[in-house]
Amino acid sequence: MAATLGGAAAAALAAALLVAPATASAKTPMVGPGPYVPGLGAMMLGPIQGRHAKLWFAGNAGNWELAAYELDELQESLEGAGKFHKGFKGKPVGPMIKSMTEEPFKLVDKAIAAKNKADFVAAYDKVSEACTSCHAAAGFPYIVIQRPSDPWFSDMKFSK
Ligand code: HEC
Repeated sequence: MAATLGGAAAAALAAALLVAPATASAKTPMVGPGPYVPGLGAMMLGPIQGRHAKLWFAGNAGNWELAAYELDELQESLEGAGKFHKGFKGKPVGPMIKSMTEEPFKLVDKAIAAKNKADFVAAYDKVSEACTSCHAAAGFPYIVIQRPSDPWFSDMKFSK
């Protein structure tokens, strides 16, 4: 078909083809509104609540290597939440996270290093209490955190 076009028509077609991508990209921008930062609630519901539960299943099964890993990930997730949401509805969420969870996390870390199940359980409950206390201090007293009982994440092996 193109071979039958005259010189001028072919040039016009070529020009139209060259212009087309620019027009399309103006209508459909390739760049979104900015980097995606999940809201604080999404971070809590996702990585934080999930890893809090996984930490329990690993520690309760005496899988200390996995428990150490989940503890690390949980701390990282909370730190991330604090960095991206330093202030939330007028509350200094970033500093609150650090000051309220630092001590109980150290206790869990110690219990895991000592492979001590009783200490792990006690320290884990302290972490959950810290989560709940922070919720209350931030204006969400009805978000209460406890040991998980149901076998969440049954597609992951927690026992050794
Ligand atoms: C600043 C202190 C603070 C700490 C520490 C904290 N949270 Fe939160 N959490 C919040 C705030 C604020 C919200 C409400 C966020 C919102 O509504 O957008 C929240 C919400 C939640 C929710 C509700 C999410 C939903 O959609 O149901 C869960 C679950 C949660 N946190 C789990 C945890 C766990 C588990 C820990 C401890 C390992 C923890 N949080 C530690 C401040 C904290």
